[in-house]
Amino acid sequence: MKGLIFHGKKDIRFESLEDARIEDDRDVLVQAKACGICGSDLHLYHDDFAEIGEGFELGTGFCVGHEAVGEVIEKGKGVTSLKVGDTVMLAAMTGCGACRPCLRGDSKQCEQGWSVFGFGIGLGGCQAELIRVPAADYNAVCLPEGVSIDQGILLTDNVATAYGAALGAEIRPGRSVAIVGLGPIGLMALELAMIMGASVVYAIDPVRERREIAAGLGAVPVWCDDVTGQLRELTNGRMIDCIIEAVGGDATMELALSLVGINGNISILGVNNSMNFKVPRQVFVNNATIRGNFVTEVHKHWPALVPMLQSGRLRPEQFITERRPLAEGPAAYEKFDKREAGTLKAILYT
Ligand SMILES: NC(=O)c1ccc[n+]([C@@H]2O[C@H](COP(=O)([O-])OP(=O)(O)OC[C@H]3O[C@@H](n4cnc5c(N)ncnc54)[C@H](O)[C@@H]3O)[C@@H](O)[C@H]2O)c1
Ligand SMILES: [Zn+2]
Ligand SMILES: [Zn+2]
Repeated sequence: MKGLIFHGKKDIRFESLEDARIEDDRDVLVQAKACGICGSDLHLYHDDFAEIGEGFELGTGFCVGHEAVGEVIEKGKGVTSLKVGDTVMLAAMTGCGACRPCLRGDSKQCEQGWSVFGFGIGLGGCQAELIRVPAADYNAVCLPEGVSIDQGILLTDNVATAYGAALGAEIRPGRSVAIVGLGPIGLMALELAMIMGASVVYAIDPVRERREIAAGLGAVPVWCDDVTGQLRELTNGRMIDCIIEAVGGDATMELALSLVGINGNISILGVNNSMNFKVPRQVFVNNATIRGNFVTEVHKHWPALVPMLQSGRLRPEQFITERRPLAEGPAAYEKFDKREAGTLKAILYT
């Protein structure tokens, strides 16, 4: 089979690798139809995941990607809910599906240990023609009626991550929201904040085009040398109730923390591989809450998100700007990384 292989910093190649195959009775083998490139793949692309630990044993020479929709082409004897020919979406983060936490959707507490596709020597990557899915009755779900392949890709990670972070920020009707970082996930969080009743959403990103997209969705675009000062002015000193950090860096963490108002919440979805930021005293003085959102338990959020996609209330697919064959994956990485005008979410088709 062919797939995208990580060879080191900014070096991802479309190459042949050993075919994925069934290894356990609970596995299915999926032929990918489409896969996504995530901001987390960009961390890998920059080779800045090395320090993160948390079970990610990285090296080079492995197949990347953790977002996929495909067709079941073979199944293990123990798989009951799927059949050959089903089109399925995969959970980027997998659990065993049989322990109590998994049954609650808390796959991060999986008693067998959680895993993610395409980060090192663990599960194989999804930016490939074939994917082995463990505990497939749990980690592969038939694409729901009325949900497109593109939307399915976003359910495997990005829109679930945005929603998890929005819940973590405790967005409620009437609250003010600030989103730091308007990549695909930040923009999805913005769309969700509107749906969840935010009174105002401030959208912060250095890329003008991304701020313009945010403004088109009803947000207030913000970018200047003193974002904190500008927001102090815009909010008459009250600052923000719900803040989402969707970048993954120390400077943006400090920015997010500096925006919090009294009893506010800061929800961090950006993957920060340095964690070398200062927490301002105001976080303590304002009784603020900081919530981490590292690797989203996507299963948990599907029951809320799928109906919103089916009804057209939520349209995260509007942020897909790149559609290419898998073979052009290396070029798609390069373009997404440069944040070139017109580039947001990239989907690769096999
Ligand atoms: N927690 C999870 O489960 C999870 C899942 C997927 C992705 N992520 C993380 O989410 C983050 C965002 O990913 P993405 O796919 O949206 O793409 P992305 O990483 O390209 O988006 C980052 C955005 O931040 C903006 N940015 C850069 N510097 C900034 C600054 N100083 N102030 C404000 N904005 C700034 C960029 O212009 C870009 O629009 C990444 O860190 C990724 O690793 C987390
Ligand atoms: Zn991801
Ligand atoms: Zn489990």
